[in-house]
Amino acid sequence: MDDLSRRRMLIAGGALGALGTLGAASPARARSLWTWAPSGSVAGKGAGVDPDWVWDEEADPVLAAVIERGDVAKANAALRTWTRNDQPLPAGLPADLRDFMEKARRLPSWADRDKLAAAARFTTKKGIYTGALYGLGSGLMSTAIPREARAVYYSKGGADMKDRIAKTAQLGYDVGDLDAYQPQGGMIVTAVKTRLVHAAVRHLLPQSPGWSRTSGGQTIPISQADIMVTWHSLATFVMSKLKDWRVPVTTAESDGYLHVWQVTAHMLGVLDEYIPATWDAANAQSRQVLDPILASTPEGNELTDVLLDIVADLDAGLTRPLINGFARYTLGDRTGDLIGLDREPFWQPLISAAWPLLVAFREGLIPLPLIPQAAWTVEEALRKFVLLFLSEGRGIHLEIPDANRPS
Ligand code: HEM
Repeated sequence: MDDLSRRRMLIAGGALGALGTLGAASPARARSLWTWAPSGSVAGKGAGVDPDWVWDEEADPVLAAVIERGDVAKANAALRTWTRNDQPLPAGLPADLRDFMEKARRLPSWADRDKLAAAARFTTKKGIYTGALYGLGSGLMSTAIPREARAVYYSKGGADMKDRIAKTAQLGYDVGDLDAYQPQGGMIVTAVKTRLVHAAVRHLLPQSPGWSRTSGGQTIPISQADIMVTWHSLATFVMSKLKDWRVPVTTAESDGYLHVWQVTAHMLGVLDEYIPATWDAANAQSRQVLDPILASTPEGNELTDVLLDIVADLDAGLTRPLINGFARYTLGDRTGDLIGLDREPFWQPLISAAWPLLVAFREGLIPLPLIPQAAWTVEEALRKFVLLFLSEGRGIHLEIPDANRPS
């Protein structure tokens, strides 16, 4: 589709969506109408077009062309050598891809070094919580996000979940890294490569019979709304759980953490008018886009099993009940049921009682004698999990896919 007609379709889609016409007609639109105001975004203004009808106008045509020309292997070979934010783009990239990446690697004008530094300090201090929440909260929740579960399942990476988890963990690791967006860090590289992968998936998945059969009428995957759904399952979810758990977080830390995720959304190609400016705006958007769409799908349940088996492999299955119990405690029973997590009558009550005490002790709010012995078993298992989760990501190369999951 040429640029002009695509833009026209977006505008028409937005306008019709606003009138509710498409909402009634298309089964893909399980969520409510888009009413989130662009005044609450980092741009402060915007057209208010429903982001379900916006994809990535800059990246998508370039990646479609790279795939159609048969240039994926050449591009991946060059991309392998690009690992640091301050590194020039490698020689050997196709010219159109290179031009796009030169632009895409620039940080937004509103990126704030001090806030990014506060975010890094925050992760250093609270890494055990954020690691557990990304891995056992956000990671498992993604299997209850139908569009994400299906996109992952039917794409090339769906056939090898261990590899995929390692690659996704890389993002969790890079985003929390002290150097994330510093010249010597790797987060610009990870975000730009992810943007390329997403654009490739938008070209490939519509050719997958499995995806097309289950996409509920969506014709191109990974819309800007979809990206923000996942963003909330990461950033907004983690911050709200830290509050639930009464982990002390300073305003500078909370602002910094929001900021690193705002910059990441921008670097993933989300338009500034859809990126929330404050946690209040983020919570409002999350209630609109994430809460209503969580649902069970056969693909999601299969992915949950694979994910938990990988965790169980850690120690021959010993901690799987504990991990189930912790994930249920973290996600709540509604999501736990949606993704088919076992109920754990032994671990769940124990974790609900012990975890708040453990947090209070770690934060220096209560003395050691108040901690039950079993709490340390929970802490030990989580620590092991978080270490694995973070280490899996190192040294991984994100690659542009050239095909879907073989059917
Ligand atoms: C790939 C992160 C949103 C579907 C990736 C990769 C990362 C990533 C790091 C590269 C790893 C890999 O190649 O397996 C993110 C982040 C998101 C986001 C941070 C939002 C904040 C989404 C959404 C969807 C999606 C909304 C679908 C609705 C996919 C698929 C792949 C992928 C299908 C490629 C899997 C493959 O074939 O290898 N994403 N993603 N992502 N993502 Fe996302």
